[in-house]
Amino acid sequence: MSTFKALSLVALMALGAAGAAFAADAKNGLGAPVGLGDKITETDIKAWDITILPDGTNLPPGSGTAAVGAKLFGEKGCNQCHGDGALGGRNGALITDQPLKGGGIEANKTVKNFWAYSTTLYDYIRRAMPWPAPRTLSNEEVYSLVAFILAGNKIIDEKTVMDARSLPQVKMPNRDNFIIKFPDKI
Ligand code: HEC
Repeated sequence: MSTFKALSLVALMALGAAGAAFAADAKNGLGAPVGLGDKITETDIKAWDITILPDGTNLPPGSGTAAVGAKLFGEKGCNQCHGDGALGGRNGALITDQPLKGGGIEANKTVKNFWAYSTTLYDYIRRAMPWPAPRTLSNEEVYSLVAFILAGNKIIDEKTVMDARSLPQVKMPNRDNFIIKFPDKI
């Protein structure tokens, strides 16, 4: 095979791999691929505009409960890494009463002892979990998983329904312990 042919083959194989990646993206709701120089449409931007602000801005419609979340935690394989009942496994516990110990990067930060905003839980799970297949959960499923983790940590009652109105009202235990270093810059 000439060098040129061999190189073309490599290029084609690379294109094939890229095509597969785009197909996976489309499945995850990320929209069609946008190439360099292509015009970006509102729909393209919307697919990536998923940031939830601390006050709940951008939370989608839908709702969820801890009971459904407990089931999903097994069905979606969360337990394979975070342990049964989210009590910890090969990756960290999401439901735990460990107090915050140590400082800096080595501190044992958990959702309950560290996270300032309940809404971050929604943003994080929707964009990053399950680790092997991010962006595959529906909005309803994320609300239920959030409810399960908050109820397990006794931050909300087991029966409280989580939605765009109730979730931002949940106050995390460590909320008031963050110090703003340069308040005049806000
Ligand atoms: C293959 C393993 C794996 C699976 C499956 C998985 N996770 Fe995770 N999860 C991780 C890892 C690793 C981290 C830490 C990531 C980091 O710190 O950057 C994490 C972090 C988290 C955190 C933040 C915890 C903290 O204290 O910072 C939450 C919440 C979470 N996962 C929820 C879920 C949910 C809900 C599911 C199921 C839908 C799930 N995870 C499935 C591996 C996994």
